[in-house]
Order: sequence, then C-alpha cells, then structure tokens
Amino acid sequence: MSLFSAKGLIKNFHSLRATDNVSIDVNPNEVHALIGPNGAGKSTLVNLISGLLPVDAGTITLDGRNITGLKAHERVHAGLSRCFQVTNLFKDISVMDNLRLAVQAHDGNNFKVFGIRNNERLLNDKARELGAKVGLESDEVLNSIAGSLPHGAQRQLDIALALAANPKVLLLDEPMAGMGQDESARVVEMIKGLRQHMAILLIEHDMEAVFQLADRISVLVYGKVITTGTVDQIRNDPKVQEVYLGSETSHG
Ligand SMILES: Nc1ncnc2c1ncn2[C@@H]1O[C@H](COP(=O)(O)OP(=O)(O)O)[C@@H](O)[C@H]1O
Ligand SMILES: [Mg+2]
Repeated sequence: MSLFSAKGLIKNFHSLRATDNVSIDVNPNEVHALIGPNGAGKSTLVNLISGLLPVDAGTITLDGRNITGLKAHERVHAGLSRCFQVTNLFKDISVMDNLRLAVQAHDGNNFKVFGIRNNERLLNDKARELGAKVGLESDEVLNSIAGSLPHGAQRQLDIALALAANPKVLLLDEPMAGMGQDESARVVEMIKGLRQHMAILLIEHDMEAVFQLADRISVLVYGKVITTGTVDQIRNDPKVQEVYLGSETSHG
C-alpha cells in the first residue's frame, strides 16, 4: 500500500479548474516526481497537499489516515512536511540558531526532562545532526548568518527545517529552482540520502535532476495528470515530449 495518496483532488479558482481530478501516490522510500509546464497547477497541488488551500473535492491519505480535513500544522504533525519554494528561514540569525529553533519547535517536550546544561548540549547535538542531514556541517557554515549564505545553502537549510519534524513524507517544491549546476548536483545527492529514510514527492522544473532521482514521474498539464510512469516511459512518451520536453528544449 502506498504511504501517501491523493485521490480525485479538485480545486477551482472561480471558473478556472486549476486541479482537475488529480490522483497521485507515493510508496515508502520512493521519489515520485511531478513535472509540468508553467501554469499546469503544480504549486496549487502542493498547497492542497500541504493544507495551505482547502480542496473542493478529493481525499488525501497519509499512512492509512485520512488527513484531508487537517490544517497545515496538523499535517506536519501527522508526518507530512514540506519545504517552501520561497525560503522559510530566519535570515538574520545563524544557521545553527535556525536549526536549534527548528529542533525545539518539534522536540520541545523532550527537553523538559533534562537539566538545563544537558538540555543545551542535547539541543546543540540535535541541531548539528539535523544540519548534517542536508550537508550543512562545517562550523564556518553553521556560524554564518543564514541570509548571507549562497542561495543553494539556504535551500539546504530550508529542507533541514522541514526535516526537523521527522516526516514520513517530504514534499519538495522546486528545491533546485534558481540553482547553478554545482548546487543542483549537491541537492540531488542530498535527496538521494534522504530517500533512505522517507518517501518524497518532488515537484521540480529541472528535468535532469528529476531523471536522476525519480522512481516514477507524473506529468501535470492544465490541472490534469496526463501520465505516470518510470523515467524511461516518460522520456519516450510522445505526449510528454509534445507538451513538456518539447517546450523545454525550445527555450534553450
Ligand atoms: N489563488 C489563485 N487564484 C486564482 N487563480 C490561481 C490562483 N493560484 C493559481 N491560479 C491559477 O491556477 C493555474 C495553476 O497555477 P499554479 O498552480 O501556480 O501552476 P504552476 O505551479 O504549475 O506554474 C494558473 O492558471 C494560475 O494562474
Ligand atoms: Mg509553481
């Protein structure tokens, strides 16, 4: 059985049906990528799944539990975390402080039983551990002001904040957006590591990254999933080449 599934999701914005009967599921340790041209409805779908927008119809299930009616923070608690396309960091404080805050927000109760000094050490350890999961390890980086880091490292930190909740399913909304090749390659490696521990729904523009990472790919066009398949199936699907890959190559 799939760990995550969305069935028959519909979202209308006035007369526009931005999400048109979308069904998508993710299996344990799977990377299921969702691709589609601009305006296809990717961000709307992410917002429906994460609970930022209410659905007009459809059901969202996580690990056997119907979470359709839950608020965004309740979904995080249930095991569904997302990272944000627009970063979600405290830019004026250090990377380490961002990590500590994230650990405290999700693990706060666990710290009450320890003495203050042990608490601080435990918090620091957990924060470092969280940073290491996304490749933010060196003291130099940890002590940097978050907003001063290169774009790619800020994205890594953003993902770390989503991981603090120990998600079963991680929703990544265009994690490579605006990144250079080296940065993208690093994030690809990071996601390969994360998938050992969770299922990932990856919404991404960068086709090369998607082809490297995805077990399955779904293609969204005008609010509808037109096909779901393996990398090879999607690469060779003439429908997909027409609507997506064709337009992609024609841009350069
Ligand atoms: N809040 C909104 N109100 C009205 N229309 C919206 C809203 N959000 C998105 N849309 C429309 O829904 C369609 C899908 O948008 P979006 O989900 O942002 O696509 P994508 O992320 O794939 O580029 C677009 O036509 C967009 O203009
Ligand atoms: Mg979008």
